[in-house]
Amino acid sequence: MANASLCVGLVCIDIVAESERFPVEDTDHRIPNLSYRRGGNASNSCSVLAQLGMKTEFLGTLSNSIQLDFIQRDFAEHSVSIEHCPIFPDCEFPTSIVILNACNSTRTIMHHPTNLQELGVQHFTNLNLNNYSWIHFEGRSANVDNIKQMIKFVRENSKSIKISVEIEKTRTVLGELLPLGDVVFISKEFSQFSGFPTMKEAVKGFIGLSRPGCIVVCAWGSEGAAAGQNVNGTDVVKCQSASAPCRIIDTLGAGDTFNAAFVYSQINLWDWKKGLEFACHIAGCKIGLKGFLGLEQFKQTFLFEASDNDSPC
Ligand SMILES: Nc1ncnc2c1ncn2[C@@H]1O[C@H](COP(=O)(O)OP(=O)(O)O)[C@@H](O)[C@H]1O
Ligand SMILES: *[C@@H]1O[C@H](CO)[C@@H](O)[C@H](O)[C@H]1NC(C)=O
Ligand SMILES: *[C@@H]1O[C@H](CO)[C@@H](O)[C@H](O)[C@H]1NC(C)=O
Ligand SMILES: *[C@@H]1O[C@H](CO)[C@@H](O)[C@H](O)[C@H]1NC(C)=O
Ligand SMILES: *[C@@H]1O[C@H](CO)[C@@H](O)[C@H](O)[C@H]1NC(C)=O
Ligand SMILES: *[C@@H]1O[C@H](CO)[C@@H](O)[C@H](O)[C@H]1NC(C)=O
Repeated sequence: MANASLCVGLVCIDIVAESERFPVEDTDHRIPNLSYRRGGNASNSCSVLAQLGMKTEFLGTLSNSIQLDFIQRDFAEHSVSIEHCPIFPDCEFPTSIVILNACNSTRTIMHHPTNLQELGVQHFTNLNLNNYSWIHFEGRSANVDNIKQMIKFVRENSKSIKISVEIEKTRTVLGELLPLGDVVFISKEFSQFSGFPTMKEAVKGFIGLSRPGCIVVCAWGSEGAAAGQNVNGTDVVKCQSASAPCRIIDTLGAGDTFNAAFVYSQINLWDWKKGLEFACHIAGCKIGLKGFLGLEQFKQTFLFEASDNDSPC
């Protein structure tokens, strides 16, 4: 299991309403599809890593509530291990109500945090680090101090494990995670919140705040994504446009898919520029599918297509 990937973060319940258009407030509106899904950023990224062929484990807190059976089965169905997740009584899973608007492909999320506690440092330090080659952390403002201690634990106990960190929500405290990853994913929202209007400026700006040699990645929704690294004192930045399917079906978790595909490329030691193309390709394919099952085939289409769409910023 030495080549397994581990994602640390949240699992929640997503109640997903698929609608032809966005509802008008204070009206009664019928929708054709409603689904109950396992969600959460780290949890979704695990599904994608497993689809791409990685041995994958999720680490986060679980609630011993009526939804536990559903969550456990869904992880199993996606071949994601949850063997080290602590389970707590007397609490509920966080829940998101999601409206997928088929008309303009938006996803509107109302997230309800619950009394499910955040992962503690001791749950992490129980792991045998020899089992993993990559650990991805979902930056959560309520848990920044614990995540910093977990990363410190990895750095002190392993020379080989690579670490990626996702900074998503616009909370200043998440900036403390910037200098800690070998790969750092920073959302468009956090980039704009930090004063960077474009993905290129964001990557350049964040390279200076990250660990030497770190690969900084900023995904920018339908515009695509940019990545960069400081190589021998020079910032190398690449922008990649998004690839969209002919019909957009489900944009929920596009960012989680993008992150997982980029991590996959780095675990396999691909050049990060190729990783950026791959991540945009897989994220683009994902939004043409409902959920995450069925992504595997698109790894093959990428590998067999010559990619010459290099677009330096
Ligand atoms: N509407 C879209 N059209 C095409 N690609 C998209 C779209 N939305 C997201 N993507 C792809 O997914 C990647 C991640 O986007 P991001 O905005 O981080 O997703 P999220 O909405 O889940 O936060 C983008 O870099 C892009 O490649
Ligand atoms: C509802 O689901 C069906 C089958 O997956 C799909 O064809 C249809 O487009 C969906 N409707 C909306 C509004 O998303
Ligand atoms: C996961 O990420 C998306 C954007 O990529 C964000 O909108 C959503 O709120 C996140 N979910 C949770 C549970 O934090
Ligand atoms: C989605 O489409 C509706 C009308 O079709 C429009 O009013 C709304 O601004 C659009 N939303 C976004 C985020 O583009
Ligand atoms: C991890 O390592 C320990 C000790 O080497 C081993 O017992 C365990 O089965 C391994 N695998 C997992 C998935 O934890
Ligand atoms: C960076 O510098 C080192 C040492 O001078 C050199 O070996 C290496 O090839 C350089 N890398 C690039 C990408 O220029």
